[in-house]
Amino acid sequence: MAFDVDMIKKVYANMAERVDKAREIVGKPLTLSEKILYAHLWDGEPTKAFVRGKDYVDFAPDRIACQDATAQMALLQFMQAGKSKVAVPTTVHCDHLIQAKQGAAADLKRANETSNEVFDFLASVSNKYGIGFWKPGAGIIHQVVLENYAFPGGMMIGTDSHTVNAGGLGMVAIGVGGADAVDVMAGMAWELKFPKLIGVKLTGKLNGWTSAKDVILKVAGILTVKGGTGAIVEYFGPGAKNLSCTGKGTICNMGAEIGATTSTFGYDDSMERYLRATDRSEIADEANKIREYLTGDDEVYSNPETYFDQVIEIDLDTLRPHLNGPFTPDLATPVGELGPKAKENGWPIKVDWGLIGSCTNSSYEDLTRAASIAKQAVDKNIKAKSDFGINPGSEQIRYTAERDGILKIFEDLDATIFTNACGPCIGQWDRSDLKGEEKNTIVHSFNRNFSKRADGNPNTHAFVGSPEMVAAIAISGRLDFDPLNDTLLNEDGQEVKLDEPEGIELPPQGFDVEDAGYVEPVADGSNVTVSVSPTSERLQLLTPFEPIGNSIKGAKLLIKAFGKCTTDHISMAGPWLRFRGHLDNISNNMLIGAVNAFNKKTNFVKNQLTGDYEGVPDVARQYKAKGIYSVVVGDHNYGEGSSREHAAMEPRHLGVAAVIVKSFARIHETNLKKQGMLGLTFANENDYDLIQEDDTISFLDLDSFAPDKPLNIEFVHKDGTKDVIKVNHTYNQAQIDWYNEGSALNLIKKQNAS
Ligand code: F3S
Repeated sequence: MAFDVDMIKKVYANMAERVDKAREIVGKPLTLSEKILYAHLWDGEPTKAFVRGKDYVDFAPDRIACQDATAQMALLQFMQAGKSKVAVPTTVHCDHLIQAKQGAAADLKRANETSNEVFDFLASVSNKYGIGFWKPGAGIIHQVVLENYAFPGGMMIGTDSHTVNAGGLGMVAIGVGGADAVDVMAGMAWELKFPKLIGVKLTGKLNGWTSAKDVILKVAGILTVKGGTGAIVEYFGPGAKNLSCTGKGTICNMGAEIGATTSTFGYDDSMERYLRATDRSEIADEANKIREYLTGDDEVYSNPETYFDQVIEIDLDTLRPHLNGPFTPDLATPVGELGPKAKENGWPIKVDWGLIGSCTNSSYEDLTRAASIAKQAVDKNIKAKSDFGINPGSEQIRYTAERDGILKIFEDLDATIFTNACGPCIGQWDRSDLKGEEKNTIVHSFNRNFSKRADGNPNTHAFVGSPEMVAAIAISGRLDFDPLNDTLLNEDGQEVKLDEPEGIELPPQGFDVEDAGYVEPVADGSNVTVSVSPTSERLQLLTPFEPIGNSIKGAKLLIKAFGKCTTDHISMAGPWLRFRGHLDNISNNMLIGAVNAFNKKTNFVKNQLTGDYEGVPDVARQYKAKGIYSVVVGDHNYGEGSSREHAAMEPRHLGVAAVIVKSFARIHETNLKKQGMLGLTFANENDYDLIQEDDTISFLDLDSFAPDKPLNIEFVHKDGTKDVIKVNHTYNQAQIDWYNEGSALNLIKKQNAS
């Protein structure tokens, strides 16, 4: 699996010095989050204190992890950088493209047939550029990363929002868009706004039915889906030490559901046990040498209010098990109170499915806790009233759980064991029990429960709970079942009660696996060919973008977007996911969700060449075919949402030269810059109102494009009148160089060649 122990030793060698220096500069004791951040500055040793929530800082992450859906465009872009190898250790994990239907073997076989060209592409690019490749069926990215690559005090980025799971092993691990990952793969810095810090003090000890999942379900209820935005959540206190490492992972994982940048825990004995159990004693030994640098300073945890921006305290002794949902993960209800709430809101009480797995809750401990409930059903002759599906987190977990008889327990309850993959968690679920969009209820141990997430049905009410609670609810078949107090009727007509769950933190006989599903890249990949069929629907090699240049004259207005225009409006997900690796095909969704300000319709804009109204991508293609650049105009916070680079690449591909808006979501603005196009803001936001449907647009002074210098643009209206509008920009000289070269990657390639 080749975790890079030398790299980790290097990080640890610098850690003490950099943290001590940071403490001196900041002038106070440090949290763990600050220690990791200051130890990973791109410029090396800290020289100034950063303002939380304000300063943008360049970092040097230690690792990158990509999943199969997002890796496609990331790697296609990386191939443009002209590098022979990735600059930092990187892995690719095939977990999103496997549909759950009949069970592991059949489902994996089908996925290998339907997505083989994507998997082959990812395998060959990985092999060529020194990237570790985890085959379909090897496991879910974040579980595999926790088992193999995460390490205390490290910094990682990953092209998936639940990358944050690695905080369970004391990392600062952050989900990013493909463009950011490509920068780091190509040897550039990674920029992040220095986060704010939320401290969560845990006291007491989990007991009975309460699990690590309930900690984050409770926190989500307190902070809501937006409460963690721009912040790292750092857990500490005696309760934290009492949690298992994978339990900590569960808590950090769902930090994504409160919008947190990431979450983390200080290094402790549970992490040491986990490192040793996963064959990484060498890392545990190294970590033990600098233990005090891998956790927050004592003073910080003694007086958290002084050092964190917000502090929450949770007593694990009294914490109750929760089920959160439906439709949002922050609607927290203690089990036992759900019945009346469900009746009041018309949520179906009957539960059709119980699903255990996902990157959140698929560890060995999770499976054993759920199995301890399932076993009671078998032993006490209770027939499960709901269907059961299990996705183990990795082949190592699956193999070990099978060896230890755990999977057999679920099978005895007629559960379907799905592939070690995301499956229903990402909507990869061919659910045969529904005919249409019937209203129904499911419970699962995943993290997200937005409408349509698991099965595409807007009327599926999904509730999130711990694996053991999911097992209990699924056995009872009722949402209002409270295993702490209620009894069930068994097949002999007797009333029986489920005993509290019992889990095994780590397999007593150790983990085992025959084929973990890992493919080590060859040492020299220069002879490896990456083949992409020119007729492929799903993959397309990228060709470098031509520079737009400093003379944009006679461009046409493509769309003036009205109101909210998120990255989902610009590049929709859903069925378009399939084309994530094919820029031309996915560009057919460009801005189809944006509302045209002139008629308030979506995907219905005027083609100035014909006078007809057509779809946005169609019109853009016609302008492009005639060699005419187009311009997109937008409202406030244009491009908010995800860091999806497709939202910038598609307009660039279809000939959009500039996006002019009242204000940008910052990541999208940067993505536009990276793709070598103009992201501009109205100097006077009311000028948005001057833009008319038939406008022809010329840039008056782009030849003197320079930092801090506004640009002037002439809009010629249909009646021949004109407005010259001043626009601002935030390009620094390096970013202007990206524009001049056609893209950031073009520039990297040029620099490599010279
Ligand atoms: Fe996969 Fe669901 Fe996690 S999609 S990575 S299991 S959040």
